[in-house]
Amino acid sequence: MKNPADPKKIDFNDEDSNTSPNPTFDTVLAARLSRRGLLRGGVGTAGTALLGGLAVAGCGGGGSNGVAFPVLPPAPAPAPPPAPAPQPPTEKLLGFGAVAKSLADVVSIPAGYSFSVLYALGDPLTAGTAAYKNDGTDTDFENRAGDHHDGMEWFGLDASGKYSLTSADRGLLAINHEATTDEKLSSFFLHANGGTSTLPRPAAEVDKEIAIHGIAVVEVAKTSNKWATVPGSSFNFRLTPLSDIEIAGPARGNSLMVTKYSTNGTRTRGTLNNCGTGKTPWGTFLTGEENWFGYFTRSATDDAARADKSVVALKRYGSAQGGASRHGWESAGADDKYARWIISKTGASVDGSDDYRNELNGMGYIVEIDPFDKNKSARKRTALGRFAHESAAFGVPTVGQPLAVYMGDDARNEYMYKFVSTALWTAADANPADRMATGDKYLNDGKLYVAKYNPDGTGVWLELSITNPTVAGYATYAFADQADVSIHCRLAADAVGATKMDRPEWGAVNPANGEIYQTLTNNSNRRIDPSGSSQLAPDAANPRAYTDMKGATAQQGNPNGHLLRMKEGSAGGAATTFTWDIYLLGAEAGADQSMVNISNLTADQDFSSPDGLAFSPSTGICWIQTDDGAYTDVTNCMMLAGLPGKVGDGGAKTLSYTKADSSKLDVLTQVGKAATPDTLKRFLVGPSACELTGFCETPDGKAIFVNIQHPGETTKQADIADPSKYSSRWPSNAGYGAGSRPRSATIVITKDDGGRIGT
Ligand code: FEO
Ligand code: CA
Ligand code: CA
Repeated sequence: MKNPADPKKIDFNDEDSNTSPNPTFDTVLAARLSRRGLLRGGVGTAGTALLGGLAVAGCGGGGSNGVAFPVLPPAPAPAPPPAPAPQPPTEKLLGFGAVAKSLADVVSIPAGYSFSVLYALGDPLTAGTAAYKNDGTDTDFENRAGDHHDGMEWFGLDASGKYSLTSADRGLLAINHEATTDEKLSSFFLHANGGTSTLPRPAAEVDKEIAIHGIAVVEVAKTSNKWATVPGSSFNFRLTPLSDIEIAGPARGNSLMVTKYSTNGTRTRGTLNNCGTGKTPWGTFLTGEENWFGYFTRSATDDAARADKSVVALKRYGSAQGGASRHGWESAGADDKYARWIISKTGASVDGSDDYRNELNGMGYIVEIDPFDKNKSARKRTALGRFAHESAAFGVPTVGQPLAVYMGDDARNEYMYKFVSTALWTAADANPADRMATGDKYLNDGKLYVAKYNPDGTGVWLELSITNPTVAGYATYAFADQADVSIHCRLAADAVGATKMDRPEWGAVNPANGEIYQTLTNNSNRRIDPSGSSQLAPDAANPRAYTDMKGATAQQGNPNGHLLRMKEGSAGGAATTFTWDIYLLGAEAGADQSMVNISNLTADQDFSSPDGLAFSPSTGICWIQTDDGAYTDVTNCMMLAGLPGKVGDGGAKTLSYTKADSSKLDVLTQVGKAATPDTLKRFLVGPSACELTGFCETPDGKAIFVNIQHPGETTKQADIADPSKYSSRWPSNAGYGAGSRPRSATIVITKDDGGRIGT
């Protein structure tokens, strides 16, 4: 449940703590005024695109951070990005018939395609685990599929069980289990009577709820043309919020990581609210920890007990003193596994080794996992920053060049980040003997940047380094060292004046040209006349503020979201400048084409709140998935197939707003070429009250795996005993599994003629 328009409850998925004073309306206005002489177009008039050529100096400074690796020789002269381009299609891409918008409680896909349910909440992962009864009495979730399937990656297996880049009939799916369907505290579909909505929560309920979070690795195989999981596979495993995990990178051993659990600050327990994913060029799984702050609580007097800069940091990361936790897990007993959810300063120690005052610093990372070896410790890659992580998208690797990883921070008014490795890419690392050691090589040491977007279509990556005087001298928060910068990179990004965005969700890199695509799902805080500390005027990279009606409800801000894309400067992934434009703007097909439906979406293409995003390595299709609450009066969430052009294929555009005092606000932006029936088409509509998220495919492109998250999320806990009142009964209504409670699930989609998906 992500959309702020959803009135159901406090939304722990929509944290909103960025009240820093950087990019304000005034700076947008100043930029616009300085350009007024250059741009004379009015509303809907395309001016001249001013892409490239306006290089802006990057923010200087910053050496390596953390432990040194062997220094590699200087890079050879930059080569043009290689073109590991998709196979030239012999079939027509987007040749399928568009799927109509729908409110039906089914999965709708084009004629000529089939799907089957592969892996749903509660399905056994081990041979000894009982079949899922789906009536609220099941236990043993450490050995079952978790809940709220989210990001997902494919890792091929050859016949001998080794990593294969080509295997298309046997592999591992590494899957995020982000969260669970709740109304007030209780994950009500997991408990026979809906569970306990008051404190204290029973330990038996809490133990199940904790165990359905985390990640899973499950083997899948195709036999006689039918895909299924391998329930007893020795590869299968779960990580939960209680699994022991190593801290890696600059924060390892830092004083900010010291807890009662790890008095030397090198370990923590668990991974939580795992949302987007990534796949490293060396064959490991990356999972992003997103809305973790809401699972913890601290006392109403904790600010005074701390009386130090940690209070500033906690507030910037969404933790206000006295706030309730999402599920009340801390109330289930005195055991340490419950006590750790209370992050108040209660101990007498100076360093925090006798309580969990620093526990929140152990969450919020990109975590690396070796999907092939359940006995290897997962590692939190702290060099990639700490925030509400979604996906981690690698730039196209180039031998002799650093690796770049692109990441978004999904909360209103948060930022876009890039990590650039110190180590240079070596082809031999594509299938190494020790994958986690290879992760240490590339992901523990490098530079972290945040993006600033200029109205003229240029942008700059600002380095977040303790050697950057703007960071080191930040008045709001006194950074101690690079570990402090990594752990509190939101504050460092505030200091350097990064651009506040409309909720960055997934990123993906176009394999054909290396351009970086990013969904910006929506932002209820954009306003033509902003008021208060968290509302913002539209700006170049987030140019819309409008009202969309959902029945009688006026949805303000940027309710439908957009997709932005970037092209790095001549230094490729290491560049500190880039150009950008907006690939697509979500909208209803009938909305005003000058100010809202700027991408000219038709009824076969219109969408709202883009979230999941992936390029098919086989076909090059850009798959766009939605997690929407704004257009759900008309359609369930969906997945679309796009064939994008490139940055700069459209042009500049000015959106002209009238403010309450009748003065004008002109916002210059850069918009890509409008969609056509040949470049964008709806491929799938999901069942009721779900979101579409997670995409991966077999290397031949003939099977794709997609997650249906939280069908029936809008069900009321009080209706648990009456299935006729559930807002979805999928997938049991599609013939899968026992009971009638809705379940998040992975589906596999194939084409009936054996062709590639999306043709
Ligand atoms: Fe887990 Fe921002 O979606
Ligand atoms: Ca509407
Ligand atoms: Ca998401």
